[in-house]
Amino acid sequence: MRKLLPLLSTNPHGGGRSALTCRFRCGDACFHEVPNTSDNEYVGDVIAGVLSRRSALRAAAVVTVASAAGGAVVLGNAPAAEARPQRPHRPEPTDGARGLRFAPVAPNNDDRVTVPAGYAQNVVIRWGEPILRGAPAFDSENQTAKAQAGQFGYNNDFLSLLPLRGEHDRQVLVANHEYTDEVLMFRGYDAANPTREQVEVAWAAHGLSVVVVQEEHRTGKLTPVTRHRLNRRLHTTSEFEVTGPAAGSALLRTSVDPTGRTVLGTLNNCAGGTTPWGTTLHGEENFNQYFANGSSATDKRYGVGTGASERKWERFDKRFDLKQEPNEVHRFGWVVELDPYDPESKPRKRTALGRFKHEAAQPRLTEDGRPAVYMGDDERFDYFYKFVSSKRMKKGKSRAAHEHNLTLLDEGTLYVAKLTGDSPAAEIDGTGKLPNDGEFDGSGVWIPLATAGPDGAVSHVPGMTAEEVYVFTRLAGDKVGATKMDRPEDVEPSPRSGRVYVALTNNSDRGKAGKAPADEANPRNLNKHGQILELAEHWDDPSADGFAWRLFLVAGDPNDPATYFAGFPKEKVSPISCPDNVAFDPHGNLWISTDGNQLGSHDGLFGVATRGERRGELKQFLTVPTGAETCGPLVQDRRVLVSVQHPGEVDGASVEKPASVWPDGPGKIVRPSVVAVWRTDGRDIGV
Ligand code: FEO
Ligand code: CA
Ligand code: CA
Ligand code: CA
Repeated sequence: MRKLLPLLSTNPHGGGRSALTCRFRCGDACFHEVPNTSDNEYVGDVIAGVLSRRSALRAAAVVTVASAAGGAVVLGNAPAAEARPQRPHRPEPTDGARGLRFAPVAPNNDDRVTVPAGYAQNVVIRWGEPILRGAPAFDSENQTAKAQAGQFGYNNDFLSLLPLRGEHDRQVLVANHEYTDEVLMFRGYDAANPTREQVEVAWAAHGLSVVVVQEEHRTGKLTPVTRHRLNRRLHTTSEFEVTGPAAGSALLRTSVDPTGRTVLGTLNNCAGGTTPWGTTLHGEENFNQYFANGSSATDKRYGVGTGASERKWERFDKRFDLKQEPNEVHRFGWVVELDPYDPESKPRKRTALGRFKHEAAQPRLTEDGRPAVYMGDDERFDYFYKFVSSKRMKKGKSRAAHEHNLTLLDEGTLYVAKLTGDSPAAEIDGTGKLPNDGEFDGSGVWIPLATAGPDGAVSHVPGMTAEEVYVFTRLAGDKVGATKMDRPEDVEPSPRSGRVYVALTNNSDRGKAGKAPADEANPRNLNKHGQILELAEHWDDPSADGFAWRLFLVAGDPNDPATYFAGFPKEKVSPISCPDNVAFDPHGNLWISTDGNQLGSHDGLFGVATRGERRGELKQFLTVPTGAETCGPLVQDRRVLVSVQHPGEVDGASVEKPASVWPDGPGKIVRPSVVAVWRTDGRDIGV
């Protein structure tokens, strides 16, 4: 009998996420000791000089930034907290900021995608649907690795939609396939003895998909265009090129790749980003779980296990056995850049962006045209990073411009964030009670870690070479005293204001004995519900090393006094828990998907105004089926697109005993899928 992992009552997430999710998605990261045992609050000497040079910024409570439109915006003071009446509220569908005028969906546990009244949906594409020429129709009882390599992968996460010029009503959909969930994929799966075919199906079900989609006239419906010339699958045995300062490093060389420049595969691609030059970025997140027989020499704070791996891949390819190939694990944990318009191109692992558990990477151009890429490292007490290129993006559609733009992420400086609150430490008591100035806010510095240039790279971290900074970036963050955050996940700069929003999902260990206590940016101990940080920089100085920040949302049940919705009346907002992915709509509203709701409802998607009188008004737009997480949100004028990831992933569930019958009903295998939602009257979303 299959041995089950601890049930909900002992889940360190406290009940929001199933143990099955923890086991397959992040290799039980939360059951293990937090990898960040650094005492970096006391390594102040390293950054003392940096901080003193920026004392003016540290003291500033307000930073003015140039907005995308060229005007000035100010991260000013929010209204002070007041006692609010606590009553349920059901606003009219016409209520709300432009783009958010819909009747909110109530929290629920229905095994379906629930959308607001007046909206319709379709399943755009499911796990196993053929997208490449020659790929067979999906047959869950007879799945093969060869079939899977031409079909849409498992557990879709990040989504990007790119325009397709010259082809009417079509767009290019790019999707991440974060991980496989073998007990829900294979009837009779024996976790102790997976077959070679099952392992090779899993290899082919990971990675990335590119699939052209057809828009339906008058609705937001999308359907895949099978066998399109741009359609592509990249998975665990596809070739990836390593570029940037760590390419060719001795730390990346293996017996099959003595150059350290060509890696087979990408793993655990979680969220990502879309660049202004038409490529997509994909974070390699919990890569550690795929490797067996780690040691202190191979791990370096990334949580690689010392025994067999969960999926036993090491039995079928020795590169997953660190005793035999100690450097293979160094070839994962990067940001991948893909050019979806060139089906022949080899995707690149961009080492200048550092190696950690990359959740996402979203760029924004500085005023002089250089990409600044914001990145979270999703682990309890890990850090928030930025990379600023030293090269300017070239505009135009020429081949020369495009080739130049494909080098932007290889040269520049990698930074890690240090945040300082502006309220007395005694006022941050760990309960979430607002300090006397009415806000969790303060200033921050970007601490440089290393700079990559045309002639090599320079480390800014005493005691570490540039190569070590890039390959063991977490250690560099420890050494310079970066701020330990509550699981920094997806990040999104507002295309309108330039402010950057960071989802901090939760942190079950905050404030526990021997762990970092609450601070102003992470103000709740045993943080179950997470928060969203808002950050403003000087955009006219892209190498700016100072910023202002404040918490935009402190998530949870609005009746819980420890929640905060940018000062908006709490009786008028939807409950939200565990913000994970973030995206902007065309109106400047932030959309937030959740992972591991701890308020008793299924996960969902929410929209919130970031500006004006309605700033902080949060409304739930949809919920997902049993066991699923909502991710990959995209909001276009006429459609909302979401990834329904790991439906049916409930403890004890299997192919034989499904917990969900989504999307195809009883008797059909549960399938992670992408869903499009639109308005039945043909008008734009939420107007
Ligand atoms: Fe893959 Fe951090 O969620
Ligand atoms: Ca404050
Ligand atoms: Ca995620
Ligand atoms: Ca995003």
